[in-house]
Amino acid sequence: MKQVDSPAGSAAAGRSIKSRPLNEIFPAAWGLPSRGINLSKSALVTGITGQDGSYLTELLLSKGYMVHGLVRRSSSFNTGRINHIYSDPHELGRHLVLHFGDLTDSTSLRRIIEDAMPDEVYNLGAQSHVKVSFELPEYTADADALGTLRLLDCVRDHMAHTGRTVRFYQAGSSEMFGAAKPPQNEETPFYPRSPYAVSKVASHWYCVNYREAYGLFICNGILFNHESPRRGETFVTRKITRAVGRIKYGLQDKLYLGNLAAKRDWGFAGDYVKAMWLMLQQTEPGDFAVATGEAYSVREFLEEAFSCAGLEWEKYVAIDPMYFRPTEVDFLCGDASKARRVLNWKPETSFKELVRMMVESDTRKAQAETLQKAALAGSH
Ligand code: NAP
Ligand code: GDD
Repeated sequence: MKQVDSPAGSAAAGRSIKSRPLNEIFPAAWGLPSRGINLSKSALVTGITGQDGSYLTELLLSKGYMVHGLVRRSSSFNTGRINHIYSDPHELGRHLVLHFGDLTDSTSLRRIIEDAMPDEVYNLGAQSHVKVSFELPEYTADADALGTLRLLDCVRDHMAHTGRTVRFYQAGSSEMFGAAKPPQNEETPFYPRSPYAVSKVASHWYCVNYREAYGLFICNGILFNHESPRRGETFVTRKITRAVGRIKYGLQDKLYLGNLAAKRDWGFAGDYVKAMWLMLQQTEPGDFAVATGEAYSVREFLEEAFSCAGLEWEKYVAIDPMYFRPTEVDFLCGDASKARRVLNWKPETSFKELVRMMVESDTRKAQAETLQKAALAGSH
């Protein structure tokens, strides 16, 4: 299986925008719209700097799309996952344009839609951490629920003004099933168990309503957990694989976790973004559950990850109640038979391959960290 993590320090990363302040680079994007460039299709991706946004953008670029990405203003760099595919605004014929915007700011959404004139919109932007949503419920609703509504409405108006057709993908979540019994699919009633999940349910129904009311081509992907070496470090899989690498290299000696009994249907993000794209290529819009159909507990993920590095997890893991959630989702396991049948989609990466890919990537990162520390110590 091909290793898909972005190569830090590679020739591609050498063209990185890290070395230049974003404020210096992005404004030029406004002056260089995509309209003159002859490409088959144009897509707008919100959440382009996230795990899924980076894999989806790679996929779209490989298919010849002009990709526009919405990037949040941040006081530190938030483009690490897309540096390797980004090119400077001054380069001719570039296929990736970034725009400052925010799902909580409809003025920016409207402007970006008008400028990018996308054929397809992938709404992946969200405050995506379930536990954090209990601490930031109002912001989560604003970005994840109202953000979708704002974007849908901009697309609707843009279509009315221009007569263009825009297809819309909404990043729905298996969290929406919450307490519903597995296996869950498109027919399973939602029972959300967090402010995040409630917001995603609202987005789901906004999308259904806009599809029915205005005849828009809108698809809700109901994606079960999907991971990768690019997964955010506070989600449990990455927290574990990162700890494995760091423990192996003596950079960490304890890993604090919460509920080890929860079960999730974990797939590989690189496989799942293909399903997003496929949804928007169909003749009719629809909603699709995307999953592997296999579930493992957090404890089983731990066992697998530590054993990849020849370590016994029991020696390092401690339970900290701060990582428990006020209401937990105990068991998610998807039935993706509709996606298999209609989209001809199936996952290509097994659970064991996924865990190994993440452990190997994080072990390399820990090794690099160790070498960097040694070099720094040597220079003093
Ligand atoms: P992620 O890595 O957390 O990325 C989230 C993206 O949303 C980032 O680019 C983030 O920007 C952006 N964002 C956050 N708040 C925003 C705002 N107010 N305005 C504009 N952009 C904002 O998430 P992911 O794993 O790639 O997931 C992508 C989408 O799928 C999310 O909507 C998530 O809820 C949903 N989903 C994920 C999974 C999964 O297992 N990964 C499963 C089902 C559904 P910064 O980089 O600046 O933070
Ligand atoms: N994050 C985290 N940190 N989770 C822990 C920990 C810990 O230290 N210890 C145990 N867990 C448990 C959580 O309680 C949960 O049951 C499970 O591990 C998975 O947690 P996360 O990795 O945070 O993912 P999630 O399932 O809550 O949410 C992810 O998947 C959803 C799809 O079902 C996110 O990507 C959501 O955005 C996505 O919608």
